[in-house]
This record gives sequence, structure tokens and C-alpha cells, in this order.
Amino acid sequence: MAKRKKLYEGKAKVLYEGPEPGTIVQYFKDDTTAFNGDKKEIIDGKGVLTNRLSEYFMAGLNSAGIPTHFLKRLNMREQLVRYCEIIPIEIILRNFAAGSICSRLGLDEGTKLPRPVIEYCLKSDELNDPLVNEEHITSFGWASQQELDEIQFLVFRVNDFLSGVTYAAGIQLVDFKIEVGRVCDDAFQALIVVDEISPDSCRLWDIETGEKFDKDVFRQDLGSLLEAYTEIAHRLGVMQRPSKTIVKPTLIT
Ligand code: TMP
Ligand code: ASP
Repeated sequence: MAKRKKLYEGKAKVLYEGPEPGTIVQYFKDDTTAFNGDKKEIIDGKGVLTNRLSEYFMAGLNSAGIPTHFLKRLNMREQLVRYCEIIPIEIILRNFAAGSICSRLGLDEGTKLPRPVIEYCLKSDELNDPLVNEEHITSFGWASQQELDEIQFLVFRVNDFLSGVTYAAGIQLVDFKIEVGRVCDDAFQALIVVDEISPDSCRLWDIETGEKFDKDVFRQDLGSLLEAYTEIAHRLGVMQRPSKTIVKPTLIT
């Protein structure tokens, strides 16, 4: 097989040139990092789960008319996605307080926010993804005001979709991060959701018990990350729970 051209390697994924112009192959690694890479582990099989879960969320968004870069899953670890120009901002939406907003604003974890709150971080490992505001984004030209308006519209729609599908599975969508890119369709520029949506980039809690099924399990050493992600996959119907039926051997006479 011809060697593929590697375009970029990040902490959790590798991007390769796709088979056709305008496409990219996104490979999900088992590498798991937190705190800007300070905490690292390779968790066997994590990339398979994030690939499947991201496929589930992105394909669902596409079907709901919320455009994403996702085209199709190629195999256990790879998906074909559209090439686009990435806006260098992480867009976070919070429904409940958790993670950095708790320490920044002195909120108790789990506090329901008066309404969904959007935050922006600059994508920069060297600067530790600092929080930025709309003034920074438009002044430095990372995105225009019109794009920011579209981003807000997009992130609220993503929140409605993700909250709905997770709620139906007994899971509370506490917060999530998305990334957005520019594509040109029929000479019109449009914004689409890119990167991944998975428990690596969302906080997902059991509605009844508050048990965490997302990357906080790794960040806070709460148990097996693989089991947490597998539980999400089972609840969403992305993977079948193993059957508990005991097959009795038949006696061959
Ligand atoms: P935070 O509470 O650490 O700011 O994270 C908010 C949400 O964004 C949480 O669901 C995790 C996600 N996130 C990422 O996906 N990548 C990141 O680099 C960071 C900092 C957060
Ligand atoms: N910032 C990401 C997280 O904590 C990954 C990392 O920092 O290495 O989820």
C-alpha cells in the first residue's frame, strides 16, 4: 500500500492526505492527555471508541442539518472528513459548571448555569489555550463578527442536538468543546463543525447518580476511562452490550 502523506499530528489524532482532493483521513490514537499534555497515558482501544462516538455525533448533526466535516467512517480508527480552513478558536458551551469555570468564577461543580454560556479559547499549546473574548477574536482577525454570529448560532444548535440525544440515554451534557472550519460551497463560504465530538471533548454525567463518563475520569483518576466511554457507547446504541445469555452446550449423540 502506498505510504500516505501525514499532514499533522496532534495529541489525540493524526491527519493524513485523503484519497480525493478536498478530503482528509482522520486517525484516532489511543494517546490520552490532560492539562495541556502534562498528564499522559496510552489507553488501548480508546481511539476506537472516540472514532465510533465522534462518528455517531457528527453523522447525527449532519442528518439534523447542522453541517460537519464528517463524510464516513473508514475503519475502526479512521474517518474520512472534508478538508477545510480551521478557525484557531476552541468554542466551549457550558450548561452546568464544571472544570475551569469552577476555579475561575468560584462556582460549585454541578451548578446549573442561568443559561448556556459560551466561552472561547485560542488554540495554542504554547500559551495553554488561553481564554479570549469576541474583541480579541475580531481584532486579531481569527474570525469576523459575521462568523462569530454564525458560530454562536451553530454552537447552540449543536447543544440542542447533543443534549437531546444524551438526555434520551440518561446522560446530562454538562459542557462541550467544538472547533469550526471554513469551506467553500458553490462559491459561498460556510462554517462547519470539525475535529471530533466525543467524551474526550464533552462532560457527560449520569442524570440520576452524577457518575462521570468523560475524560474527567482520566483527569481526576476516577477509574477506567475505557469502561466509561464504553458505557456511553452502549447507552447511545453505538455498540451492543455483550449478551448475558448463557448458551448451553448441546449434547451430540
Ligand atoms: P474546561 O472546563 O477544562 O475549560 O473544559 C471545558 C470543556 O471543553 C470540557 O468538556 C473539556 C473540553 N476541552 C477540550 O475538549 N479540550 C481542551 O483543550 C480543553 C481545555 C477543554
Ligand atoms: N486540554 C485537553 C484536556 O485537558 C488535553 C490536554 O490538555 O492535553 O482535555
